[in-house]
Amino acid sequence: MKKDIRVLLVEDDAADAELIKFALRDSGLGAFSWHRVEDREEFIRELEKFTPDLILSDYALPSFNGLTALELTRQICPEVPFVFVTGTMGEEVAIESLKKGATDYVLKTRLTRLTPAVKRAMREAQDRAERKQAEARLQESHEQLRALSTYLQFVREEERTRIAREVHDELGQAMTSLKMDVAWIGNRLPKAAKELHEKMRKMSAHIDTTIHTIRRISTELRPGVLDDLGLVAALEWQASEFQERTGIHCAVSSTAEETTFDQDINTTIFRIFQEILTNIIRHAGATYVDASLTEEDGCLTLVVKDNGRGISLHEITNTRSIGLVGMRERAALLGGDINYHGVAGKGTTVTVRIPLSHGPASRRQRSYAHTHSG
Ligand SMILES: Nc1ncnc2c1ncn2[C@@H]1O[C@H](COP(=O)(O)OP(=O)(O)O)[C@@H](O)[C@H]1O
Ligand SMILES: [Mg+2]
Repeated sequence: MKKDIRVLLVEDDAADAELIKFALRDSGLGAFSWHRVEDREEFIRELEKFTPDLILSDYALPSFNGLTALELTRQICPEVPFVFVTGTMGEEVAIESLKKGATDYVLKTRLTRLTPAVKRAMREAQDRAERKQAEARLQESHEQLRALSTYLQFVREEERTRIAREVHDELGQAMTSLKMDVAWIGNRLPKAAKELHEKMRKMSAHIDTTIHTIRRISTELRPGVLDDLGLVAALEWQASEFQERTGIHCAVSSTAEETTFDQDINTTIFRIFQEILTNIIRHAGATYVDASLTEEDGCLTLVVKDNGRGISLHEITNTRSIGLVGMRERAALLGGDINYHGVAGKGTTVTVRIPLSHGPASRRQRSYAHTHSG
C-alpha cells in the first residue's frame, strides 16, 4: 500500500490552506496527510517530529517568515522539496528564494500550477535520493575492493615469506647434504679414475650454482634481511644489489631513530622502494640515485631522487600507470601517501609518507587477515 505523502504546510490563513489542499486533491499523486503550522516554534517542532515529503510555505506570515522556514529546512532536512505558495511574490524575491534553495514557487492566484510544480519537485527529490543511494553503493563497493586489495597484499606477502623460507631451508639443506655426499664419494674414488674425478668436480660445481640460485630465488621472494635486520638494512642491501646489477650509483641514508618498524610498514616501504628502483632502471636513464629515510612528526618518509629524464605530469596522472597506482594504493592502505615529481632532463623525486601511528586501514587489514587466514 502506498504511504501518504506527508505535507508540512506553513500557512496562517485557514481558508488558503483549504484551497491549497483542494488544489492538490485531484493531482493523482495519492493521499496526503497535512500538518499546518504558523510560527517558528511549531515549524521546528514538526520538523523534529518527522521529516515531511514536501513543504509548502506562504511567504509572509504575521509571526513567521517563509525565507526563515526555507533556511531552517535546508539546515534540518536539506533534501525535502520546498515550494512557496504565496499571494504575491515579486520577480526579484522569487529569484532570491530559488537561489536560497526553494524548489519552486506558485502564486495563490494560479493554484492550477500547484499540481505540476509539486509533481516535478517530488520527482526531482526522488531522483536525488536515488542518486545518493547509488553513490553510497559505489562508495561501499569501493571500500570492499580496498579491503580485498589489502587482504590480497597481505596473503601475497605472507605466502612469499613462507615460500622463501621453505625454498631456502628445505632445498638449501638438501643441496648442502648432496654436496657433502658428492665430496664423500669423491674422496673414495681410486686416484687413477681421472674421468670420474672430473665428473665429480663438475657435479660439485653444479650443486654450488644451484645453492646460489636457491638463495637468490628465496631472497627475491622476500629478503631475509628485512625480517632479521630491519628496514634500513634491507634498503641498504637492496641499494647495493641494484648498484651492482645496473652500475647506477645508489646511496641510502637514514636519520630515523629506529632501524626497523612494524612489519606492515617495513614491507610497504621496502616494496615501494623496489618498485621505484625498477622504474628507474626501465625509464629514467639515470646514473645516480639517492634515497633517504627520515622520521618526523610521527611520519616515516622515504625520498628517492634520481638524475634521469624526469617523469612528466601526464605520466603521473595517467590511470594506466599501474605501477604508480599500485604504489599509491600500498601507501594508502597504511594511511600514507606518495608523491611523484619530475623535472624534465633533471630527474624524478618520489616521496612516500607513512604515519607511524596506525590508521584505521591497517587495523582493518589485521582483523581481515585474522578472520580469513583461519
Ligand atoms: N624514475 C622515473 N623517471 C622517468 N619516468 C618514470 C620514472 N618512473 C616512472 N616513470 C614513467 O611513469 C610511467 C608509469 O610508471 P609505472 O606505473 O610504474 O608503469 P611501468 O609499467 O611502465 O613501469 C612509466 O611508464 C614511465 O614513463
Ligand atoms: Mg613500473
